[in-house]
Amino acid sequence: MTSAQDRAALLEALAWQLEMGADEALNATACDRFAEQEEERHQTPPRSQAPTTPVRSTRPPPAQAPPPLVGPDEVQASARQMATAARSLEELRAALAAFDGCDLKKTATNLVFADGNPESRLMLIGEAPGRDEDRQGLPFVGVSGQLLDLMLAAIGLNRTKVYITNILFWRPPGNRTPTPAEIAACLPFVERHMALVQPSYLLLLGGLSAKTLLARREGITRLRGLWANIAVPGLDAPLPALATLHPAYLLRQPAQKRLAWRDFLSFRRAVEDASPSSPNPA
Ligand code: URA
Repeated sequence: MTSAQDRAALLEALAWQLEMGADEALNATACDRFAEQEEERHQTPPRSQAPTTPVRSTRPPPAQAPPPLVGPDEVQASARQMATAARSLEELRAALAAFDGCDLKKTATNLVFADGNPESRLMLIGEAPGRDEDRQGLPFVGVSGQLLDLMLAAIGLNRTKVYITNILFWRPPGNRTPTPAEIAACLPFVERHMALVQPSYLLLLGGLSAKTLLARREGITRLRGLWANIAVPGLDAPLPALATLHPAYLLRQPAQKRLAWRDFLSFRRAVEDASPSSPNPA
């Protein structure tokens, strides 16, 4: 290969890694997996373990996704069974850690379960963990989390007064859009999460959260500002939920902050109206 071809091949390999979500360096030096394989190949196996069939090729086999163990319906049934069996938030977290039905888990560093006050009457549900959340195992700790904290502070709230989670519990590689199968696999856990926390109000942050929980097809710019009641399995009464714009969207479109501000005021009003004597909505 010429050096130009080398360079093109390296760039292509790098682009492939980025697409797969390997978008940050975890070690100071790169790890050459091909060299490791070569080394292993040259290590003579002990006599008793010598292969009985000749090795035909030195090339690694083409990457192939393993066949799914079960179909999407079985995955969701197993998710529902595991989620329903959880009697506390600790059990729900443990059930998620043991659940292998969502492929996002394979590429994520950490399970991102929740943050904030589980006793709060206010539950915020975002979309999916990003890079910082994946590293720290907590929702909304990156730049959009910082904006969320400011927005909460503007209506007198903070993380000791609200409970925060996401629709997805693992980071999609490279922050790609999650697939319907990934969302469906997590949904029973999200529903159980709501049933265990038993909030009085939900704030849905962003289109994925609003569309999934309101079962609507419209985009967030149409859904935002609307209150709707969500029926949650395991809860006697439906939960009032308000959809609003995602902080990450507001970072890209600061002019839209005035709409989010309206939603946050509407959220605060609803919470205050329900408990006029309590200055602390949590
Ligand atoms: N965006 C989300 O929706 N959730 C997070 O936890 C972080 C960013």
